Amino acid sequence: MKCQATELPIVAQRSVSMATKTAVPSFDADFISLEVATDPYPVYTELRGLGPVVWLESLGMYAVTRDVLAREVLSNPAIYSSAKGVSTNPGLNEQSGGAMLITTDGAQHRELREVFRKPLRPKALQEITGRLTEEATSLVDRLTGSGTFEGVNDFACHLPLTIVSRLIGVPEEGREHLLDWGTAFIEMAGGDNDRGRAAAPRAMEMIQWATENITPERVSKGGWAHQLIEAHEAGGLDQEWIVRLTIDYIIAGLDTTISATSSLLYQLGRHPEQWNLLRENPGLIQSAIGEAVRLESPLQAMSRVTTRDVELGGVELAEGSRVVVIFGCVNRDEERWERADQFDITRPDATEHLAFGLGEHACVGQGLAKHEIQTLLKAMIPTVSEIEVDEPAWHPLNGARVLSSLPTRFN
Ligand code: HEM
Repeated sequence: MKCQATELPIVAQRSVSMATKTAVPSFDADFISLEVATDPYPVYTELRGLGPVVWLESLGMYAVTRDVLAREVLSNPAIYSSAKGVSTNPGLNEQSGGAMLITTDGAQHRELREVFRKPLRPKALQEITGRLTEEATSLVDRLTGSGTFEGVNDFACHLPLTIVSRLIGVPEEGREHLLDWGTAFIEMAGGDNDRGRAAAPRAMEMIQWATENITPERVSKGGWAHQLIEAHEAGGLDQEWIVRLTIDYIIAGLDTTISATSSLLYQLGRHPEQWNLLRENPGLIQSAIGEAVRLESPLQAMSRVTTRDVELGGVELAEGSRVVVIFGCVNRDEERWERADQFDITRPDATEHLAFGLGEHACVGQGLAKHEIQTLLKAMIPTVSEIEVDEPAWHPLNGARVLSSLPTRFN
């Protein structure tokens, strides 16, 4: 990779009339290349070595590489705004600003988040515990001792696709495409390159399908989409947000959880001593989930735009600068984490990573994701004495970390 310290005008994204300059290390190679998407960690190590804030020449934006600065950005939405889009794809940012929960700010964001969150509150999650447990137990019973199965498709996808997609309550026809559409959107959001552009038509197909099918006649009564319709009828949600928030459930709720579940399975298979520890002490379940998403953060990078000139980690950023927080990089920051590349479920602070974000936009669905994964682990603990995994394959997605295949055996 070709990197160098560059004199960047602080007005990089505004006008050149302000002549002040500040030295910002620059990463000049393609940040969303196939090579980086396949294995981003060598590049992340290089970025952290360059500095806490690095100019990504190929994307025309700044990257935050350290935990402490990521926290500063994520907890100051008035300065680091989401309203102009949060992706690393400029075209998508133009279209999506203000059109998704995550691309709104302030009072509008808080109101929408309250409506979106309704089926994800602890009490609502408790109500689905029985269904999740039943489904997880029969899945684990079926897979245990049955030889090699596909850890991603047969195991990690199961609860999101059988239970969560039904809870969203979208019509049966189309449901089989939800995961593919969600993945395509994430791929498109990750960058304007060949892979991002190839994914765009499938992401657009989802929007078209949702616009035609998320209607009072087509969605399941009592489902999450139906609850959005009810919120609209009660005067608590503008019409256009019914489809938008339903799409948010689909994009944000499936792939991320599948990724976290399969990464955890992979780590537990590679580290039998950690699986034994977890079986002996199920109180470590949340730490195990935390470690899996810290090491392989399902969402690798999200961005913000500065609302005013601001100094970040010694670098002057002009108003209007785009700053990308690389979750996958900051979660392996060796200044924050001892033995940052190691999977260790006994870390006392294993849940204090940034893989679910932080602050006002912190993941609103994390309770559901953890509930699903915890239910699977609870079903496995009494039954599965050994998890065997073979070589995994990663899906080289822009801006996300997702396994595509993990041959697995439960003994
Ligand atoms: C392991 C699973 C998951 C991971 C790792 C994850 C990760 C994240 C991260 C990092 C953010 C913050 C992004 C930012 O600040 O730019 C976020 C926000 C969000 N997540 Fe998740 N997520 C997961 C599961 C879910 C689920 C299951 C849902 C919904 C059913 C969901 C819905 C959302 C939404 C709507 C936001 C935006 C919140 C806001 O702007 O207020 N996520 N997620």
